[in-house]
Amino acid sequence: MCGIVGYVGSKVPGSVLVEGLKRLEYRGYDSAGVAIFDNGGIKICRCEGKIADLEKRLVDEHFDGSIGIGHTRWATHGRPSETNAHPHYYEGIAVVHNGIIENYLELKTMMIEEGGVFSSETDSEVLSHLIARSIRKGLSFEDAVRESISMVRGSYAIAVLCEKDPTRIIAARNESPLILGVGENENYVASDIPAILSHTRKMLFLDDGEIAVLDRDAYRIQTLDGEAVEREPKHISWDPIMAEKGGYKHFMLKEIFEQPRAIIDTLRGRIVEDTGDVFLDGVTLDEETLKRINRIYVIACGTSYYAGLVGKFMIEELSHIPVEVDLASEFRYRDPLADENSLIVLISQSGETADTLAAMRQGREKGAKLLSICNVVESTLARDCDHVLYTHAGPEIGVASTKAFTCQMTALLLLAMYLGRTRGDLEADRAKELMQHVVQVPGYVEDVLERAEEIREIAEFYADAADFLYLGRGINYPIALEGALKLKEISYIHAEGYPAGEMKHGPIALIDEVMPVVTLVPRDSVYEKILSNIEEVKARKGQVIAVAEDDDREIAERADHIIKVPHADTILTPFILVIPLQLFAYYVADFKGTDVDQPRNLAKSVTVE
Ligand code: G6P
Repeated sequence: MCGIVGYVGSKVPGSVLVEGLKRLEYRGYDSAGVAIFDNGGIKICRCEGKIADLEKRLVDEHFDGSIGIGHTRWATHGRPSETNAHPHYYEGIAVVHNGIIENYLELKTMMIEEGGVFSSETDSEVLSHLIARSIRKGLSFEDAVRESISMVRGSYAIAVLCEKDPTRIIAARNESPLILGVGENENYVASDIPAILSHTRKMLFLDDGEIAVLDRDAYRIQTLDGEAVEREPKHISWDPIMAEKGGYKHFMLKEIFEQPRAIIDTLRGRIVEDTGDVFLDGVTLDEETLKRINRIYVIACGTSYYAGLVGKFMIEELSHIPVEVDLASEFRYRDPLADENSLIVLISQSGETADTLAAMRQGREKGAKLLSICNVVESTLARDCDHVLYTHAGPEIGVASTKAFTCQMTALLLLAMYLGRTRGDLEADRAKELMQHVVQVPGYVEDVLERAEEIREIAEFYADAADFLYLGRGINYPIALEGALKLKEISYIHAEGYPAGEMKHGPIALIDEVMPVVTLVPRDSVYEKILSNIEEVKARKGQVIAVAEDDDREIAERADHIIKVPHADTILTPFILVIPLQLFAYYVADFKGTDVDQPRNLAKSVTVE
């Protein structure tokens, strides 16, 4: 999510680091910093804002060392500020970190009791403290890093400097990417290829559980147990633009493929797989208040609104609280019946959508409890609501939302389980069973992504159609709406999403031999009904593209094209069914040659009414 770059060699490290960080800046980071050796010690320079601000500060700084680490932050724990910016320094150790340390509170409390003094609100700061603590105990730099990371739970890519061992960088990874760049008498470490591509094309990719030691003229990789890893560098032939997109043609495609990771990050630290318990950091509603809530309003715009419609099914099923879902632009101008016993859940990727902010103010006037589901930390919505549940999708660059959507559904599912368990409507056994399925969702999504090529072929077949109809039922009716929205946003083809049962009340009049109908056919309680809807389409010579489960044989004789997906618990099917629709829309748009990442007339964040 954040950006890391590190350098050891004979160039001016400040310039290498700033240049590397600038290459990652397009993702909209909020703060940055570097740690560079000077006069035997580590000097830190950090600031909130753009890399240009950091660059200005560095002009007046002097460093005589030729080794340093840098970081651009995209806030997850703690608001964007200079003290929360990386590197974090403590007793001769400087650390930059990407990822989420799940047990940071536990570790922080332990080290405060031992006399440690913390200066930031981040989870990352525990790493500099842990490593310094191990060094105090007499361990070498390398062993101190090894011992420290064995104490943390969560994901990390780190680069570390140590004043006692001032010639090297130590780096390590677990579930967060980290790359070594190999040069002539110089070496690099980075979270992303673009950060170091102008210096070297010889790169090595660390695996989970590996530690790398980088000196100026050598590098070595080991496992956590100290076993040497032999790996040859790869030659990277990407051009700089391709590198920014991680080798994908568009940011949207990259973000579609990031979804398994993004969902894992949104679940991380919030669930207990064995018990089905859910912990929501940032939500401090006490049991008493929760039990008094008699209505939930879910408010959002665009794709976030469709996530809200899915959330209604989840919350009503698991917590039995009635849910109304409203578009923010409508809610703000009506006189809703919300009161102090209402919970208003405002969903927004950006946290800056003007209508959603206005709806929040309307809700506050009514005295309702306000909870936001946001992707951008410290956005206006996140700050102004009483409670916030962050999605950890990472920066979303493509205007058409994809990974933010699946993470919003993840957050809503967690909220639904949390409400259900706290109020007693969700039995412990069901929670446990459901959680065992929830943790499999990223794997199912991965599975669908592996079928991208088949979806691309179907998209090519239909790319010239002028109109599309998308049909779904129940919890997947909003997925039909989202599928249609994705297609029209980026391919400019007219598409309508409809609840399948309503087709006969209007859209059926549109069906003829040139009308493709994308139908969502999970094996749920309305499976037979949707098969009948497909028959109705076929009887009028419509073309059916069915998204159906792997072992569904009945669909074969009814549909013209089938996209197969794995089977899942009904409440989890939206996560799986939306993926082919995102890919389908993407490939159709790509065949048409539209500006996929920045479609005409659309904005990523609509901050005006
Ligand atoms: C715009 C974007 C959509 C987004 C919607 C709501 O229309 O193009 O992708 O879903 O705004 O934005 P929000 O940041 O509030 O989720």
